[in-house]
Amino acid sequence: MKIILATHNDKKLEEIRFLFVDTDIEFTSLKELGLNEEIEENGKTFKENAYIKASYIHNLYKLPVISDDSGLEVHALNNEPGIYSARYANGNYDLAMDKIIKRLEGKDDRSADFNCSICFIDEEDNVYYFERKCYGEIGYEKAEGRAFGYDPIFYYQGKSFATLSLSEKNKISHRGLAFKDFYDFIIKKYKK
Ligand code: IMP
Repeated sequence: MKIILATHNDKKLEEIRFLFVDTDIEFTSLKELGLNEEIEENGKTFKENAYIKASYIHNLYKLPVISDDSGLEVHALNNEPGIYSARYANGNYDLAMDKIIKRLEGKDDRSADFNCSICFIDEEDNVYYFERKCYGEIGYEKAEGRAFGYDPIFYYQGKSFATLSLSEKNKISHRGLAFKDFYDFIIKKYKK
């Protein structure tokens, strides 16, 4: 069976293919379908944005589609940058992280979470959601390590996400947990 992953991000495609490697479920990306247009994410929540992307692609191809929307929520900053995480960084995560550290100066509450909302629409137009959060804290400085998004300033049980291996991160991260829930659901649903 074939599922479209509604993303232009090759890393996400790689991650999901890795998760489903022992199954006969095949994932294809928008790039592989030759669809280059950006889908406008104008929802007010992660869940709405995930649905907007999934339903747009589902209406075009009439195939099962999965999409995810994720971001960082800093509690003392009114959960910013939230759904605007990518736009807040505008391509420069170094500056965005400095800005967050600066805005937290003098505040006691440094708690934060990463959120991941997945929307899956099946071949019969049924819509399913899988949502997970990973709770941690914003550090006082950026950690050395893998520089993906906001990872260097997000600390989980005292360790920055940037210093975890990908498999360590996948076990506890918002996206890892939400994809695992999706995996369990799909395996059950399509089990012969
Ligand atoms: P999107 O889900 O691809 O739209 O990404 C939303 C934003 O959240 C991007 O700016 C990512 O860098 C950031 N983000 C989402 N998940 C993570 C993560 O696990 N680590 C670091 N940044 C993340």
